[in-house]
Order: sequence, then structure tokens, then C-alpha cells
Amino acid sequence: MPTILITGGHSGIGLAAVRQLAAKGNDIVLAGRSSGRMQPAADELRARYRASVTMLTLDTSSLASVRAAAAQLHKMREAGEIEPLDAILCNAGGRFDGDVSYSPDGYETTFATNCLGHFLLVELLLASLVEGGRVVYTASGTHDSQSTDGKLVGAAVEPDATALANNGKNGVKALSAGKRYSSSKLCTVMYSYELDRRLRRSDSSVVSIAFDPGSVPETAFLRGMPKPVQWISGTPVMKGVSKRIGVITSDMEFSGASLAALATDPDYADRSGEYFQANDGNLSAVRSAQLSYDKRRARKLWDDSKQLVHLTANEEPACLR
Ligand SMILES: NC(=O)c1ccc[n+]([C@@H]2O[C@H](COP(=O)([O-])OP(=O)(O)OC[C@H]3O[C@@H](n4cnc5c(N)ncnc54)[C@H](OP(=O)(O)O)[C@@H]3O)[C@@H](O)[C@H]2O)c1
Repeated sequence: MPTILITGGHSGIGLAAVRQLAAKGNDIVLAGRSSGRMQPAADELRARYRASVTMLTLDTSSLASVRAAAAQLHKMREAGEIEPLDAILCNAGGRFDGDVSYSPDGYETTFATNCLGHFLLVELLLASLVEGGRVVYTASGTHDSQSTDGKLVGAAVEPDATALANNGKNGVKALSAGKRYSSSKLCTVMYSYELDRRLRRSDSSVVSIAFDPGSVPETAFLRGMPKPVQWISGTPVMKGVSKRIGVITSDMEFSGASLAALATDPDYADRSGEYFQANDGNLSAVRSAQLSYDKRRARKLWDDSKQLVHLTANEEPACLR
């Protein structure tokens, strides 16, 4: 059976995606930081779809946790407990409101969670993908400072990994939570493009795709916001207003189905290096922010990220050097 690993697959858009994937007979590896939160999703997938579900403890904000999860996955592969991966879905993430905070490695929480953990995970698991396997990154339309989404949340800043990882340190004023988030998603899109370029250079058959699920307020995404804001954002009236002012809107079912399609549908097997958006019931390839196509910045983002995650020569697949 095809096997799909997903971070944050036990809730929101990720859960909507794994329901679709499990219904179509895929084996699922749920990777998340709390087995208590993953368990109900695993139980549901097993009961409703007779799916084979493996839970992998993984906190994307901690480099040690990502390394331990990758080691655990390799061990399970060697023991024949799971098949090679058909797709890695880098979907976990969030916006961290309130004062700036730092990961166990001392990096700003948003950048550590949304970017560095997934960067390291892909380096460590790329060799576990089958021929033609896929990496899909859940980004966000907020990455584009020229879009309505980007303007509302706060314009993304320079995609400089070292600066973003150390944001708010040494007496420098921290970026707002919104800017920390949109900047992390700009980096996410750029990781996806840079991964595609590296894979193509080494004649790899692996596919790298970036995905904007659109604004889906009914997930737990706004959990850091005051309760009334969370409530009003999910009302039909507010969704209508968002759409009218140009926000890219979607719903959990459609965005989940879109992520599942990008992960497995043959239609997307030759769409590496593209950015897809779920917009009001349509999934299509669109242009991302102008800055996201800057190859020099993307190369630097990648190389600086390697330093920040302390990637060793043994850990780095030859095709990504
Ligand atoms: N909803 C939207 O409007 C929207 C729009 C654009 C992009 N997105 C993106 O879509 C993705 C899914 O978000 P969602 O809307 O479905 O919200 P969600 O329900 O809050 O899902 C986020 C998932 O990420 C996981 N996660 C957060 N921090 C983690 C960490 N340190 N380690 C491992 N897992 C972690 C959460 O797990 P826990 O249960 O452990 O917290 C949760 O499963 C995110 O990348 C988000 O940025 C969402």
C-alpha cells in the first residue's frame, strides 16, 4: 500500500487530507508532538477506513525530536513495519501570538516549527521516498506581501534564515506574530522551489510541491487569538466579507482533499516546482510572490538552514548537496 507521512495530520486541514488518503487505501504515518492528540484520529482512521496507521512522535520545533523521529522511522522501515514513503507532507505549523518565544534550540518558535523542523525532516527522510515520491509543503497565501492575505497578516520580511531564527534577540525589536508567520511561509515556498531545483539537478524523480490551502478559519489555526475573534472568523458572514476584500478562502474539506490530491493523484506527478492554491472550490497552479522565485536568496536560505540545524555530511543525501 502507498504510505504517506504527514506532520499535523491529526487535526484541521491535515486530518481532512488523511481521511481522504485513508479512504483511498493509503497507509498513514501520523507525525505529531502528542500521542494523546494523535490517538483519536488514528482510532477513527482505523475504524472508518480499516487504515493502517502508525503514530510517530515528532515536535517540529525541536531538532532533537526531528532526529529521533527520523531514526525511529528508519528503524521501523528496517524491521519491515512500514513501507517506503510515497509522500512526505510538511503540513504542521501555526502562528504563535503573544510575545516572541524560542524553541529548545534557541530559535524563534514560528521559524523553528514551520521551517527548520521540516527542513531537517526532509533531509533525513528523502532517501526513504520511493521513486517518484512527493514532498508537499503546506505554505500560505500570506507569504506574498502584495496579496490581501499578506497585507492583513503582516508583510513577510527578507527570507534570511539566520535573522528569522534569531528574531527579537540582542535588544532588537521582534517582528509581530503575523510577520513571523508570513515570513516563515515565504521561506516554506522557497524551500519547496529550492528542493525542486536540487532534485532536478541530480536527475531525481522526487517531486516537490508548495500548497496554499487558502483561509480556513474553522481549523484550530487561530487558537492563539481571543475566543470572540476565533468565533467570528468562522461565521459565514465573516467568510463572505473576507472573500469580498480579496482573501483567498476555502474550507477544511476542500483544502484537505486538495492536499491529498497533490500527494497522490497522477495529475500532479509532473508538477514539481509549482505552487498550488485552493481557492473557493478550485485547486490550481498560481504564481507565488515575486521574491519567492529569487534563486540566490533560496540557495542562501537552504545553506543557512543547513548550518542552523547542524546538518552533518552523513545526514545529507548526495542529491541535495
Ligand atoms: N487554517 C488556515 O486558514 C490556514 C491558511 C493557510 C495555511 N495554513 C497552514 O495549514 C497548516 C495546517 O494548519 P490548520 O489550519 O489545519 O490548523 P491546525 O488544526 O491548528 O493544525 C496545525 C497542526 O500543526 C501541528 N503542530 C503545531 N506545532 C507543532 C509542532 N511543534 N510539532 C508538531 N506538530 C505541530 C498541530 O499539532 P498539535 O495538536 O500538537 O498542536 C496541528 O496538528 C499549517 O501549516 C498552517 O500554517 C492554514
